[in-house]
Amino acid sequence: MSDTEPEVLISEEEIQTRVLELAAEISSDYSDADDLVMIGVLKGSFIFLADLSRRLSIPRTIEFIAVSSYGTGSVSTGAVRLVMDVRGNIEGKHVLIVEDIVDTGHTLKYLIGLLESHKPASVRTAALVRKAERAEVDVDVDYLGFDIPDKWVVGYGLDYAEQNRTLPYIGIVKPTDT
Ligand code: PRP
Repeated sequence: MSDTEPEVLISEEEIQTRVLELAAEISSDYSDADDLVMIGVLKGSFIFLADLSRRLSIPRTIEFIAVSSYGTGSVSTGAVRLVMDVRGNIEGKHVLIVEDIVDTGHTLKYLIGLLESHKPASVRTAALVRKAERAEVDVDVDYLGFDIPDKWVVGYGLDYAEQNRTLPYIGIVKPTDT
């Protein structure tokens, strides 16, 4: 837990502007596809997915997948565990994985491999933020909101020990366990 108010890194207005831009880009790129499946990675992506999906001008369906990597601390082990698979059949469909954050990249790389094994028509990725400095594996983010510094961030779906997920902005907190 951090006991101080998060310091604003990306304001609510900046996030909403960027989400609109990404939605326009995705709507254009998938304008010929009538079978786009957006797969939100629980829990962190739920707000980004909700806002992004509602701003698209193309048909889309929503799925969720859950993985676990961090526990409640702030140190990534690199190990990814599938907690809940998608419910629907994604074979032959265009898949867009929606993440809140790409940190080491292990989770996204694991998910791309897992979802590709279901034989979709394509797999692309969207992430609100990425910590480029922390990358341990090479993974493409096709639709990226913001590159951010290596600080612990909360808000807009992101948590620190389950706190502050519903802040409308992205803020920096100082972890007390490192
Ligand atoms: C976060 C985030 C990604 C993952 C990224 O999830 O939502 O899924 O970590 O880290 P990586 O690039 O180092 O693999 P977290 O495990 O914190 O779970 P949560 O979304 O439920 O908060």
